[in-house]
Amino acid sequence: MSERCERRWHPGRACAFGAVLALAAGPAALAAPATPSPSAGVGTPTTGAPAPAGTHGEELYRQSCASCHGQQGQGTQRGPSLIGVGPASVDFQLSTGRMPIADEKPQSRRTQPLFSADEIAALVDHVASFGGGGPQIPQVAPGNLQAGRELFATNCAPCHGTTGAGASLTNGWTAPPLYDATPVQVAEAIRVGPGLMPVFPSQVLTDQQVDDLATYVRRLRDERLDRGGGSLGRLGPVPEGLVAWIVTLGLLVTAARWLGRRAGQ
Ligand code: HEC
Ligand code: HEC
Repeated sequence: MSERCERRWHPGRACAFGAVLALAAGPAALAAPATPSPSAGVGTPTTGAPAPAGTHGEELYRQSCASCHGQQGQGTQRGPSLIGVGPASVDFQLSTGRMPIADEKPQSRRTQPLFSADEIAALVDHVASFGGGGPQIPQVAPGNLQAGRELFATNCAPCHGTTGAGASLTNGWTAPPLYDATPVQVAEAIRVGPGLMPVFPSQVLTDQQVDDLATYVRRLRDERLDRGGGSLGRLGPVPEGLVAWIVTLGLLVTAARWLGRRAGQ
């Protein structure tokens, strides 16, 4: 579907699946190029990154990224080339805290971002200076909820589940839950296709459809909070199920003891 499907770093990448989904999603009505957004979709303050303010992307890159991705982003044994991944990919990886990873793991996970919004912007610029273009950080506007619901069912639910709770894929990879992703991160994931996720270029999903999806994914989180109850906060469906099970068990034990006491009277 695109040359990015052939990246050797993810040989198992679901390109054919992406093509099938592309058919299902129908023809693109509009393919306006995404414009860079000053709001990188992040807001978490820095946690002890050493560099001072200013355009220090190069220094941050040397300290935190070059050992794996190479001084010029050319890639090494420990990490893929960053030439042409594009600002959206770098912003997605950094704002979701996936990069930098401490060790090579099969799949980097979402975690607390290491860098501030300014530092992320500086790193995005520095990686862009390696050349190669790539998707820009999408600008997301409020979309249509119903359209988003339908697009999600066709394009996303097969991997992330109908409720967005996530699911296991092949080879120990998982499609993560979508409850923590900001609308910009949702749009970035769609355009970038991180890890085993397929790329959805604008010929497959228009910018309007990306807005609809980002709006719907946000709603999934609210629906989930309604379902799961506020006290459970951000626990995933497995812990929730476990909690339900423990509660049931607790009731059974209580009932048994009550019956036992009655019998013993
Ligand atoms: C310990 C090695 C390591 C360090 C340090 C590291 N990375 Fe990575 N990076 C990887 C590996 C391995 C992958 C591919 C695995 C994956 O996608 O989860 C990757 C993937 C990426 C991608 C996605 C590339 C693509 O093709 O879509 C980006 C962007 C990225 N890293 C940026 C950075 C930046 C910026 C830093 C510094 C802040 C950094 N990384 C630090 C190893 C590293
Ligand atoms: C083939 C399975 C697959 C499909 C289809 C898919 N994804 Fe993903 N998605 C993944 C995987 C795997 C990851 C994790 C990538 C990583 O960790 O590097 C992911 C990550 C994400 C993330 C990042 C979540 C976070 O909090 O960090 C978002 C957001 C996302 N997907 C949204 C979508 C949307 C919206 C669609 C539909 C347009 C979609 N995905 C379709 C497999 C898929």
